[in-house]
Amino acid sequence: MDEHHQDGQESTLHEIRLNTTNPHSRTIRSFVRREGRITRAQEQALTRLWPRYGLEADARLDLDACFGRRAPRTLEIGFGNGETLASLANQELTTDFLGVEVHRPGIGHLLLTLERRELDNVRVISADAIQVLKTCLPDASLDRVLLFFPDPWPKKRHHKRRIVQPDFVELLARKLRTGGVLHMATDWEDYAQHMLEVMAGTASFRNRAGPGNTFPRPDYRPLTKFEQRGLRLGHGVRDLLFERI
Ligand SMILES: C[S@@+](CC[C@H](N)C(=O)[O-])C[C@H]1O[C@@H](n2cnc3c(N)ncnc32)[C@H](O)[C@@H]1O
Repeated sequence: MDEHHQDGQESTLHEIRLNTTNPHSRTIRSFVRREGRITRAQEQALTRLWPRYGLEADARLDLDACFGRRAPRTLEIGFGNGETLASLANQELTTDFLGVEVHRPGIGHLLLTLERRELDNVRVISADAIQVLKTCLPDASLDRVLLFFPDPWPKKRHHKRRIVQPDFVELLARKLRTGGVLHMATDWEDYAQHMLEVMAGTASFRNRAGPGNTFPRPDYRPLTKFEQRGLRLGHGVRDLLFERI
């Protein structure tokens, strides 16, 4: 999750090459595992606070047991540093939030924020969101899925790495209850178009803005870190809200 994502880099190409050597084990990932800088406090938080907020991604989860209650559930995919997730969780204390991210410094940052704000309605999973959806989450268990500023993979040859793809959307459709909402946002016009096209290809969702349309940022969504970077670059931001039908 850094500026390297904006321009397709060596390790990415390496990974694609490795994964395509054997067509049977080919996995195209929407992220590059790059540790980046992690502070000592974040590193310690990953151990110290994991028992309180962390969930393992190796089996189907009983979400009522994980949160100790039954409540509306929101999943955020790729929460980055988690500031948006923590703000939303603080605004909506009667909702349970599940955050999935692969970037360890970001996870550490979120854990520290949750502790500082004394939030108890958030749980964190450190894994590929696709695996989490497939393995851990029961069908119709989510009321809302948030996907804010997913890696844009701007080069055409990398478009296959964009997380929004027909299979991904059908997986989300299975995990959302009827009437549930998929909320996406992006500052890349061509990714917004891609999202609209993929969503137009499924019968499982209805565009709340009307076919082919997007919304400006709703007031309840805090500005994210990547959004602020996009705005500094002069990018326009689009929010896409789809209802599971
Ligand atoms: C461009 S950043 C945006 C972060 C944050 N949502 C924001 O707006 O500031 C995209 C994030 O998605 C994460 N990500 C990408 N693919 C993922 C996946 N399959 N599972 C979990 N996290 C993923 C990356 O690690 C990265 O932190």
